[in-house]
Order: sequence, then structure tokens, then C-alpha cells
Amino acid sequence: MILAERMQRVKGSEIRSVGKKIAARNSADLIKLSAGIPDEALFPAEELKAATLPLFDEPLLPSLQYGLTKGDTRLIHLIAERMKQAERMEIPEKNILITTGCQQGISLSSVALLDRGDVVLVEKPTYMDGLNASIPYECRFIGVETDDDGMVAEALETAQRTIPRVKMIYVIPNFQNPTGKAWPLKRRREFMDVVQKFPDLMVVEDNPYGELRFRGEFIPSLKSFDTLGQVIYLGSFSKVLSPGLRVAWVVAHDDLIEKLEILKEGFDLQSNQFAQSQVVNYLLQNDLTAHVEKLRAAYKEKCDTMLREIKRTFPPEAKVIEPDGGMFIWVSLPEYINTSDMLAEALDAGVSYIPGISFFADGRGTNGLRLNFTSNSCERIKLGIERLAGVVKKNIR
Ligand SMILES: Cc1ncc(COP(=O)(O)O)c(C=O)c1O
Repeated sequence: MILAERMQRVKGSEIRSVGKKIAARNSADLIKLSAGIPDEALFPAEELKAATLPLFDEPLLPSLQYGLTKGDTRLIHLIAERMKQAERMEIPEKNILITTGCQQGISLSSVALLDRGDVVLVEKPTYMDGLNASIPYECRFIGVETDDDGMVAEALETAQRTIPRVKMIYVIPNFQNPTGKAWPLKRRREFMDVVQKFPDLMVVEDNPYGELRFRGEFIPSLKSFDTLGQVIYLGSFSKVLSPGLRVAWVVAHDDLIEKLEILKEGFDLQSNQFAQSQVVNYLLQNDLTAHVEKLRAAYKEKCDTMLREIKRTFPPEAKVIEPDGGMFIWVSLPEYINTSDMLAEALDAGVSYIPGISFFADGRGTNGLRLNFTSNSCERIKLGIERLAGVVKKNIR
């Protein structure tokens, strides 16, 4: 077998290899603060069951049939309404394409925009697993200076002016994976002011966590400042309903959305018709906003429990970012601690996390770690943090 040349760059992410290490040590006692998953106890299972059963009684069984590449027309309509309510944006239905997870939105954007050798600018750190979707298109990732408020606008402008072949910027302005940061309004405006100076530059705004805000005020998306059609917005039901459904959407301007639809036809013809019908029925029969309120309250309690326990048990050298939403807490340890090496000790102590290096395009971040607060009970979070604190203390000089 002779693989395509591009496969030389397709290696599997750092997170996957960490995942394998963790899986090899799996036991009921292991507290996985490494997971990036919602709390399954909060899946609206009964409501989804009630949304599913009637699908088998519909004349001609449309949910079991092929559907449109663009997606179920009723779902697109419901998403446009949700975008109005939750994101305060008026999005014409023709600009929405249903995708198989946000992840497919990253893939489709990459195929549409990237030639071999093109540069994608990313935050430092960022969700490198998502960028696996771009790797087969033989692009390069370059991290742009990122502070407490997100990507620094002046640094973006310098990067854009000095680095050849920048085509795309990939950012997660709401409760970022891995840091949990949300960019304030001022930074979003400054960022978009820079972007608009370069009309050929495209931005992928990945927003799977936006609705999981449990503190502070709503902040408009980058897309809402997009006057030139430069922002590709990705939304998803994964974090507010269920990731197993794989139902998500892309919003893009007229020319691009058509191209993405044609590409999608080649990728997979369409996203899962049955799952789309389940979401349609769920949305018609239930109040998703009320469900999201429940998630917010539960995740706030878990996040606060984790923050409290970190403050109580970690040494003062550990610096923590306190998120206003999402699923993650980011901890920075002194530079001399390598969190990839420390993972083995943590696993011995019965707790896991994702080492920081997994989130940097340039192999930095070796002293950071990502903790997930959504998938364990408060009791397990307390125990997990206590175990991790013991490991961290041992590594402090
Ligand atoms: C930033 C980010 N984007 C995209 C995804 C994938 O989302 P989806 O399930 O919609 O494909 C994740 C999943 O963890 C994520 O953290």
C-alpha cells in the first residue's frame, strides 16, 4: 500500500494518545477530569424517547429516507429561530447548512479555503483536536498571542501583515476549549476591526459552548459584527442536547454556503436524517431554553465546587482561570513542571487530566493542564482535585 503524501502529516492528536494512556489505566476508581463530555445524567432521555417514537408512525417514514444535503428544512427553520433567541442574530435560512457536528464545519471550511502551505492562525492555546480536521489539507498552524481576553488584536494584525499566506483564523470566543475563557465585547470588536481590514481573510468562529453561560452577561458573537461575510459560524446541539446525535450547523455568506453544501454532498450526502428528525420533534415538543437553564445551574455548581477545591488544596504557585461557562478549567503550574510527565503520577493517584501541550500549535504549554468539571458528580470532583493536589504538591520545588 502506498498512502497519499498528505498522510505523512496525519498522525493522530496528542489528546488521542493521552486518551489511550488513560484508557490503559481505566478502573472504576479512576476519576477522569480529562474527559471533554457533558453529564449524561442531564441528557433529556425521556423527552428524546418521546420525540423518537412517533417517527416510526409517520406516513412514508421520511426520517428513515434520504433527505436534502442542506438538511431538514424544518430543522433549519428552528435553528434560525434559536439563533434569533439565543444569539440575537437574524440569520436567513438560506445561509444555514446542517452538519455532522461542529467538527464537520471545521472540515468543510478547511477544504473550501485551504491550499497546501496556507496558514491558519489560532489562539494559544486552542482546540488542536478540532484542527485535525484541517491537517489533511496540508496547511500550517501558527499561534497568535492570546491574553486573558482572547486573541490580541494588534498581534493578529502583525501576524496578518508579516506571515505570508494567512487564509483562515480559527477561534473559540465563548468558554474556549481548553481555557474556558470568553472574550469580552471590546476584544471582539477590536478583533473584527482588524479582520475587516483584510477582506480576503476568513474566520471560523467555533461556538459549541456559547449557550452554557452560567455567570455574567450575554456577549454577541463575532458573526454579529461581520459586515463583509468573513465569518463562518459553527453551532452545535452537542453540548446542549446530546453529542451522540451529531447534529450541528454552519452559517456562512451566500456564495460560500453553496460551496460548502456541494462539498458536503461529496463528504456524506447529508447528515443523519433520523437524528435531525429527532431534534426537530424534541424542539417542537420541549422548551430547549428551559433545559439549557438546568444545564447551566448544574454546571455552575460543579464548576464552583472544582474552583473551591482547587483553591483549598492546590499550592499557591498554581494559577487558575475561573470560567463563566462551558466545561473546562485551565490550570498553569510553574514552568519547570511538565504536565505530560506528571500525568503518570496522577494516574497512579487515580485521577486524569489533559496535559497542556495537547493544545498548543507550537509544542509549548508544557506547564498547563485542562480539567473538565461537567462529567463527574461534585463528590467525585472533590476527591479528584484532592488527589491531583497531592501530585502537584509533590512536584513543587
Ligand atoms: C471547541 C470545540 N469545537 C468542536 C467540538 C466538536 O463538537 P461537535 O460535537 O459539534 O462536533 C468540540 C468538542 O469537544 C470542541 O470543544
